[in-house]
Amino acid sequence: MTARLIDGRARAARLLSEVAEATARLRAERDIQPGLAVVLVGQDPASEIYVNSKIRRTEEAGMRSIAHRLPAEVAEAELLALITRLNRDPQIHGILVQLPLPAPLDRARVIDAIAPEKDVDGFTAVNVGRLANGEPALVPCTPLGCLMLLEETLGDLRGQVATIIGCSNVVGRPLIQLLLQRDCSVMVAHRHTRNIAAMVRAADIVVVAAGVPNLVRGSWLKPGVVVLDVGINRLEGARGERRIVGDVAFEEALAVASAITPVPGGVGPMTIACLLANTLDACRRQIESAERSPVPA
Ligand code: GUN
Repeated sequence: MTARLIDGRARAARLLSEVAEATARLRAERDIQPGLAVVLVGQDPASEIYVNSKIRRTEEAGMRSIAHRLPAEVAEAELLALITRLNRDPQIHGILVQLPLPAPLDRARVIDAIAPEKDVDGFTAVNVGRLANGEPALVPCTPLGCLMLLEETLGDLRGQVATIIGCSNVVGRPLIQLLLQRDCSVMVAHRHTRNIAAMVRAADIVVVAAGVPNLVRGSWLKPGVVVLDVGINRLEGARGERRIVGDVAFEEALAVASAITPVPGGVGPMTIACLLANTLDACRRQIESAERSPVPA
């Protein structure tokens, strides 16, 4: 068997063009431009790259993009005051604080200062709780992208057995909830799991978000499984050449799986596309909520 490649670039391009069309309609018909504020604290090089590409994509979709760059030494009170201003700004519909935050800033205090209706990362305790309760929520972008790729590949997910490797707040934990909501049976492996191979072998769907190159071997996989590789590992070869690889031994998995995401070009492009879809969604909900309870003049 040679696995089909799941083309995340193509799926993300389709989603981005739908978002851009809907944005153009909102601007033409309602004179409302969805606005996304991105806050970057410090100068982490990887975060700089992510933030710059988020800003570029936001503008390409016809949305308003506002970037706030703060020094690593910023006082937490100053960062919280900025978030409060953005919460109150009617031109801003989505707020994203790039993680990780430099020490000693408190991630939970900073993230939970974001108004839940503008929390386009889905990281606030309110949105995490809503997702866990099966209530309407803004959902973290990478697991949302994973769900879209799985539904495109498999259709209805009911009854599928899924193993997720990695239980971070950004990917693994929200994905557990999303797959449970689609009536999957979900197993979760992490660094203390004794026999990850056995959990992988039992699965129809394997999602790997561990940050460990070549962690999942072809011999672990059940024939016909669908594999999503969320890992992005930057490696240097013997001659100093740089390569990006995922968490799955790709060539081995190709021979066993029925479908697999490549790295790069699989899950990665879905994250930004889902961020903009969330921003549009947040904007629409804010318009509806303003129409339900208009502020008296
Ligand atoms: N750092 C790594 N991934 C993410 C993400 O999806 N959102 C934010 N805000 N920071 C991140």
